[in-house]
Amino acid sequence: MKIIEVGLGNRSYPIMAAAGLLAGIGQDLRQRAIAKRYVVVADDRVAGLYGNQLMDSLAGAGLSCELLTFAHGEASKNMTTIAGLASSLARLGVDRKDCLIALGGGVTGDITGFVAAIYMRGIPFVQVPTTLLAQVDSSVGGKTGVDIPEGKNLVGVFYQPRAVYIDSRVLSSLPLAELLNGLAEVIKYGVIYDREFFDFLAANREQILALQLPVVEEVIVRCCWIKAAVVAADEKEADLRRILNYGHTLGHAVEAASQFAIAHGMAVAMGMVAANKLAMAKSLLAPQEAERISRLVADFGLPVAIPAELDRQLMKSFLKTDKKTVAGRPFFVLPTCVGKVIITDDVAEELIDQALEA
Ligand code: GLY
Repeated sequence: MKIIEVGLGNRSYPIMAAAGLLAGIGQDLRQRAIAKRYVVVADDRVAGLYGNQLMDSLAGAGLSCELLTFAHGEASKNMTTIAGLASSLARLGVDRKDCLIALGGGVTGDITGFVAAIYMRGIPFVQVPTTLLAQVDSSVGGKTGVDIPEGKNLVGVFYQPRAVYIDSRVLSSLPLAELLNGLAEVIKYGVIYDREFFDFLAANREQILALQLPVVEEVIVRCCWIKAAVVAADEKEADLRRILNYGHTLGHAVEAASQFAIAHGMAVAMGMVAANKLAMAKSLLAPQEAERISRLVADFGLPVAIPAELDRQLMKSFLKTDKKTVAGRPFFVLPTCVGKVIITDDVAEELIDQALEA
């Protein structure tokens, strides 16, 4: 098993990764003695796939456990689901000595973390991510929250889990579209932080797409290592953590303008390529480096162009209302080469127009 520490003083926690880890979570939690009772939170689909395995693992270790489910999908990521889960916890008599377990993808992790943060003013929770996107990104770093009609993730808090358990074997049940969602974030880590990792992805593309476990595990561990280092340096996204938003400024505008018909990873892939165009227009990035990134994105089966039919004015209006926009100026994460980026809000509107048009 690989263990990576997220170093946050007395709120530090381990990320544990191993194929088949799901079955051993009960024993590990027993040793850590985080709580007297555990409540697993999962959507109806993931509960059907892995709920029993996790509950058996907890019960087998002599831990008391319950399972709560909600309807799968982003539409559940709202205050109504939070209120429903909080009421269920109260009815079960859950108190501050108990612990929630988020079993599932990003929606489940965000919801469960948010309930854990606000129920009785905070109870412990752990993450058991089951999608690649959640394993390499959303389960680490403590971003929790829900969507409101005015925008995605507009309500939430930073609240760190007590542990993250990553079992790469569960990815075998992941639909290809979901795998691609995660791969966009994986490529992002190579561009923002680690040129060697970028080369590793290019060299191992076929094994990764075929979900060969040793290679996939290496990918997950490298991403978590980068994310842990970034979060430890800047937990609340005041500075360095903003680099994790490479491809997300324009990507979020694409997602929103498509009314979320375009999945997050697809939009991030388009957003990375569009950000590279801005970087080239500002003479920050050499065309050969931009070409390398576009090629890797395309080689993984991800899109490199924003669909012509998407309304550009609508995308620009979403840019203005994004969380990353301050005083009407969106910030962009722009690569200077593979492995290095800068953060800037100094991007002329004409350049944004050109990047969106291209
Ligand atoms: N997903 C970006 C972050 O956690 O900061």
